Amino acid sequence: MAQEKIGISGTGFYVPEKVLTNADLEKMVDTSDEWILSRTGIKERRIIAPGETVSSMAETAARQALDRAGVAPEDLDLIIMGTITPDELLPSAACLLQARLGNTTAACFDISAACCGFIYALEIGQKLLQGGRYRNALVVAAETLSTITDWEDRDTCVLFGDGAGVAVLSKGTDRGEIIDCYIGADGSHSSLLEIEAGGSLCPITHEVLDQRKQYVRMEGNKVFKLAVASMVSSAKRVLKQAGLTSQDVTWLLPHQANLRIMKAVAKRLHIPVEQVYINVDRYGNMSGATVPIGLAEMDQNGLLKKGDLLLMVSFGGGLTWAASLVRW
Ligand code: COA
Repeated sequence: MAQEKIGISGTGFYVPEKVLTNADLEKMVDTSDEWILSRTGIKERRIIAPGETVSSMAETAARQALDRAGVAPEDLDLIIMGTITPDELLPSAACLLQARLGNTTAACFDISAACCGFIYALEIGQKLLQGGRYRNALVVAAETLSTITDWEDRDTCVLFGDGAGVAVLSKGTDRGEIIDCYIGADGSHSSLLEIEAGGSLCPITHEVLDQRKQYVRMEGNKVFKLAVASMVSSAKRVLKQAGLTSQDVTWLLPHQANLRIMKAVAKRLHIPVEQVYINVDRYGNMSGATVPIGLAEMDQNGLLKKGDLLLMVSFGGGLTWAASLVRW
């Protein structure tokens, strides 16, 4: 018997109101609009207001997505959250989101796959729905990278922003059908992008805070090269799995870390840059949230037409990588 289709019945997103421009950053660290724009393509990013959290941003995005999908919060069977900045270490941000939505029965859990959080969650959600027990899953990626950024470190602070993106997955929906996913990782590169403190290795102490180990540290140049290679190979792998080629792709939606990375990936996949969705200029790198926010913007702005093939691809700390093909 053919498996029931799993599709994206609704999308939603939220970005905080506060805009932090490159000109603002010039006043905070030794940098320039020219350097940031030419090296990354970023013009501005959004930063949470006091009191805003991953679950509060995700709630706004989720309500929008559920509304568009015509799914009531109580009809959700699964809430899967990709995040590295949960509101608290315990409970999961997925449980906090569930409480905000007033659902009291769904299975809820967070996954830690950094910038690949959304596509990892999509793969897990699709497979669980295919398993037969569940009908609707809320797949979320939300990040407050501003809370783990060292605002005195010009190497990293110009790159990041905050936001949340959501997709509702529903069984038997052929809108936004998930054709296939591919996820992978290589932990031998873990030290290239890390937050040393706050876990079992290095619990928070006054000394640790003085050493600023609670913030993200990254070897940008090495990450850059691995990012291009892993995104290209992930994209090729998922296309091969589905018996398709990059010629079949209508839209490429890459993780929005850096415009140069996205252009290099598109070039290697022979996908014209006009077919690449880009919003890094407005939001910077929001880790796992970049892909679902891009997806929701494309959906809500009518860019995705029936029959279009969307290729989403990401890489991130871990190092993790992930790709997914969706037929609109
Ligand atoms: N403003 C001005 N100068 C800066 C700067 C800033 N904000 N940040 C770094 N520099 C300086 C460096 O100190 C270095 O100076 P030096 O040559 O005198 O030593 C110079 O700019 C070049 O640094 P480099 O690291 O070689 O730049 P780059 O071209 O690799 O660009 C990144 C830096 C971070 C933009 C780029 O490596 C990148 O995007 N990497 C991937 C990051 C990423 O995607 N991370 C998230 C994973 S999801």
